Amino acid sequence: MAIDFNSVKKSYGRCVLTHDAKMRFFRHFYDTFLNSHPAINRLFANTDFDKQISILKNAISMTIMYAEKQDDLAKDVLTKVRKSHARDRYNVKPAYYTYWLNSLIETLRVCDPNFNEPLEQHWRDMMRISIGYIVEGY
Ligand code: HEM
Repeated sequence: MAIDFNSVKKSYGRCVLTHDAKMRFFRHFYDTFLNSHPAINRLFANTDFDKQISILKNAISMTIMYAEKQDDLAKDVLTKVRKSHARDRYNVKPAYYTYWLNSLIETLRVCDPNFNEPLEQHWRDMMRISIGYIVEGY
């Protein structure tokens, strides 16, 4: 099935459009993600989550833009992520992206009132493209 980018964008919009919605979304995401694996928790031991939330909010928009049309701006951002997450920097093992994506999906299920199975598939197919690009640089 072709990826329905408009539905993904609207879904993300419902989750992060207001300040309160955004805070709820990313608190839920990091709670889920950090508890999903002890090694992941350790990687974020010194992280300032107030900063990290606005960084990740923009980065997720870039993953959507990159997957849809390999836009230059989005590619530049993901190239930086690819370098910082590689084995010589944060050393984010490729397997950890499964935890990341599952945590994102769990969070969408809680925060997006219109979330359903077809939408989940569009999110997963879309993220597979952007995560694939990041992981290739490991
Ligand atoms: C598509 C998936 C992901 C995206 C788009 C993403 C994006 C980002 C961005 C934009 C930053 C801040 C800029 C930078 O330091 O490069 C960052 C920081 C970070 N990311 Fe990711 N990331 C992803 C997945 C992961 C995963 C799976 C892990 C670990 C299991 C991870 C661990 C980290 C860590 C440890 C930092 C540094 C936090 C700090 O400054 O203390 N990321 N990520």
